[in-house]
Amino acid sequence: MTNKRVLSGIQPTGGIHLGNYLGAVQNWVRSQDEYDNIFCIVDLHAITVYQDPKILRKNIRELAGILFACGLDPQKCSLFVQSDVTEHTELTWILNCTTPIGWMKRMTQFKDKSDKQKEKSTMGLFDYPVLMAADILLYETDLVPVGEDQKQHVELTRDIAEKFNGTYGPTFKIPEPVIPKVGARVMGLDDPAKKMSKSEEKQGHAIFLLDEPDVIRKKIMRATTDSLTTIQFDESRAGIYNLLCIYQVLTGEGRDAIEKHFEGKGYGDFKKALAEVVIESLRPLQEKYQQIIADPHYVESLLKQGASKIRPIARRVVDAAKDRIGLGL
Ligand code: TYM
Repeated sequence: MTNKRVLSGIQPTGGIHLGNYLGAVQNWVRSQDEYDNIFCIVDLHAITVYQDPKILRKNIRELAGILFACGLDPQKCSLFVQSDVTEHTELTWILNCTTPIGWMKRMTQFKDKSDKQKEKSTMGLFDYPVLMAADILLYETDLVPVGEDQKQHVELTRDIAEKFNGTYGPTFKIPEPVIPKVGARVMGLDDPAKKMSKSEEKQGHAIFLLDEPDVIRKKIMRATTDSLTTIQFDESRAGIYNLLCIYQVLTGEGRDAIEKHFEGKGYGDFKKALAEVVIESLRPLQEKYQQIIADPHYVESLLKQGASKIRPIARRVVDAAKDRIGLGL
């Protein structure tokens, strides 16, 4: 029996924040031994909104360095850059031609992003979920570990695959989303009503994995809470609840134990403790990152190696889809 295949992706649009880490990357690292793993730096998704070309290229390398520093092991997984494997765009076109526009119009992330950009929104932004479906279906993926915000896209991927299989015969494997119980939706520190996001530019919004200890302390001490005082996991108190969830995932302690530990203490004490937990959790990966990027060719060679390893799977799946549809000679 072969291992189940995991595939997931992340955009190279600036540093990784704690939401990306707790919602996705940490889980990729933890389940590496159990599965056959493919991870993708989705640069084609990144350009659905304007990216400065020089910064995009720098971000791709940096992101790869951070992912290896987080613990992705090149012996156990293939990490590659999406645009290096042209089958992603090829399959996207095929799936564009079988996906009803009505399904796409229901995508909440498109609605949110296009509302912000109005008429500047591109066709690429609208088509983003089909490209994501191609990423997943190209590798006969069983499991897609993501944060909660990507669940709708994985469900759409299932619908796209089922529709294609129904029309042309069995071609694609039907994937399943894997969403963590805690950490699936880390909220902004400045505004716990908003998901922590890279596109939010306010200073105190997100903690980035490469933030210096002092920056982390400042961001956490200034995080928005409420006027109550007790340290309790109460979802209706969004600010403190978010901070407690971060504490819970990083320490692995149970909720009762955490509440007991902070009984009689105030928000200030808890925030100080949380800042130290975050700093110490990130320290090893920050040190490893510095070692990894000391040799700029190292990351590049791993990315090329990753792409070479998985390209044949993608080719085989696209050829099967083309054959089903009657494309080519
Ligand atoms: P991206 O780059 O926005 O985010 C990468 C991963 O981080 C998760 N995430 C969060 N989790 C918890 N709390 C948050 N505040 C938070 N913000 C982000 C995301 O859910 C994601 O798992 N479309 C995807 C990338 C993608 C992909 C794929 C994923 C492209 N192709 C194929 C899986 C399979 C995205 O934009 O992720």
